[in-house]
Amino acid sequence: MKILIIGSGGREHALAWKISQSSRLEKLYCAPGNAGTMSIAENVPLGASDIQGLSDFASNEKIDLTVVGPELPLILGIVDEFEKKGLKIFGPDKNAAELEGSKVFAKQFMERHKIPTAKFKVAESLEQAMEILKSEEFYFPLVVKADGPAAGKGAIVCRNLKRAEEAVNLIMVEKKFSDSGKRVVIEEFLTGKEASFIVISDGVKVLPFVTTMDHKPVFDEDRGPNTGGMGAISPSPFIDKELFHEIVKTIVFPTITRMLEEGRKIKGVLYVGLMLTEQGPKVLEYNCRFGDPETQPQMLRMESDLVDVLLASVEENILEKEIQWSHQPAACVVIASGGYPIKYEKGKKIEGMEEAAKFPGVFVFHAGTEFKDGEYYTSGGRVLGVCASEKTLEETMDKIYKAISRIYFEAMHWRRDIGAGGEEE
Ligand code: AMP
Ligand code: GLY
Repeated sequence: MKILIIGSGGREHALAWKISQSSRLEKLYCAPGNAGTMSIAENVPLGASDIQGLSDFASNEKIDLTVVGPELPLILGIVDEFEKKGLKIFGPDKNAAELEGSKVFAKQFMERHKIPTAKFKVAESLEQAMEILKSEEFYFPLVVKADGPAAGKGAIVCRNLKRAEEAVNLIMVEKKFSDSGKRVVIEEFLTGKEASFIVISDGVKVLPFVTTMDHKPVFDEDRGPNTGGMGAISPSPFIDKELFHEIVKTIVFPTITRMLEEGRKIKGVLYVGLMLTEQGPKVLEYNCRFGDPETQPQMLRMESDLVDVLLASVEENILEKEIQWSHQPAACVVIASGGYPIKYEKGKKIEGMEEAAKFPGVFVFHAGTEFKDGEYYTSGGRVLGVCASEKTLEETMDKIYKAISRIYFEAMHWRRDIGAGGEEE
C-alpha cells in the first residue's frame, strides 16, 4: 500500500516509524514531515491544512490510505474532501470532529447525555463572561477556555477574579486564539490525576489503546503554563482494570453511541482527556486525533500491525480485530526550545542525537527539527521526544534521561520528573 501521513510532530514520526514496519507497506509519504520522518518516508512539501493540495497529491499518487495527525485539517473537513474523491482516509469527518473543534459543543453534548464532566457555563460575549465570573457561581480556582482550537494552550486556570478577567480579555478581546475566542467556557476546576484515554472507533465499536498519562505543564512538579505535553508514560499508573472498564462504560461508549445518534459518526480516534476525581472519572476534553506525545510510548508498546488497526476503522469492521500490546511500560520525555510554550527561538544546531540513539532500546522521535547541509536544527517549540520501553518504569526513565544527557542545543529544556511517582500505585 501507498500510505500518506499528514503532520510534522513527534506523533507523526512515531506513526511513521510504526507504519514503516507494516508488511502491507509499499511506499510511505509524510506531509510535510520533519527531519526524522525524512529517513523512513518521503517528505512532501505540503502543509497539514492544505486540504486541496493534499487531496490532489493523494489522487495523483494513488495513495491507498491517508492518516491524519493533527486536529486542524480534521476540523476543516479534510476527511469529507478525501471521501468525495473516493480516497481512503483515517479520521472523523467535519461534523464529528466538532467534538474537538468546539468546546461549547463538547460541553453541551456531555450535558445533554449526562456524561461526567466539570460544571460549566458558556459566555457568548465579554459582558456575559464578566457577569458569570462575578456571580460567585464558581469557586476559585476556575478554568476559562477558548471555544475553538488553540493547540492545547486555550485552557487557562485562574486563581482569582483578576486572573480570570485577564484570561477572558486575552481570549475575547486580544483574540489570542483568533476566532476560537468568540465564545468562552467557564468551568469548575477539577482535582485528581489526569489520564489520556485513547480508542480507535469505526463509529460503533471501539479498540482501546493502552492508557497513558501526559504531563502538560512546562516545568517540574506541574508548575508553569500548559503546553501540548512535555512527556508521557504508558500505562497510566492510576487506571486499574476496574476503572478501565468504568471509563469505557460510562464515558467512551456513551460518547460514541450518542454522537452516532446525533448523526456524527466518530471514525478514527476518540481521545478522552480525563481527570480521575474522587467522584470518579470526568471528561476534561475530547480530541479526535492521536495524542502527542502519548502516541510515542504507545507505538513502542504496540505489537500489532498499525495499518491493520487503522484499516479496521476506515473499513468499519472493528469486531474482527484486536490490538496486541507489550506488557512493558514505555515513556517519552520531550525536549523543548528555550521559552516554549511562550516565545522561543528556532534554528539552533542540535548535537548528540546519534550518541543518544546508541543506547539500545532508545528511540529519538523528531518534532520541530529540520535537516540542512548535513546538520540537524530546531524548527519548533517541541523539538525531540526521547523514548524507551524497559521492564520497569524506573529502568525506562533511567535510560531516557541517560540518553538525554548526550543531546545538546542552546537553551534546550525538559522536565526531570516525567513518570515520578508512577511506580507507587
Ligand atoms: P483542555 O484543553 O480542555 O484539555 O485543557 C488543557 C489542560 O488544562 C488539561 O489537560 C488540564 O491540565 C487543565 N484543565 C482543563 N480543564 C480543567 C478543569 N476543569 N479542572 C482542572 N484542570 C483543567
Ligand atoms: N498531549 C495532549 C494532546 O495531544 O492533546
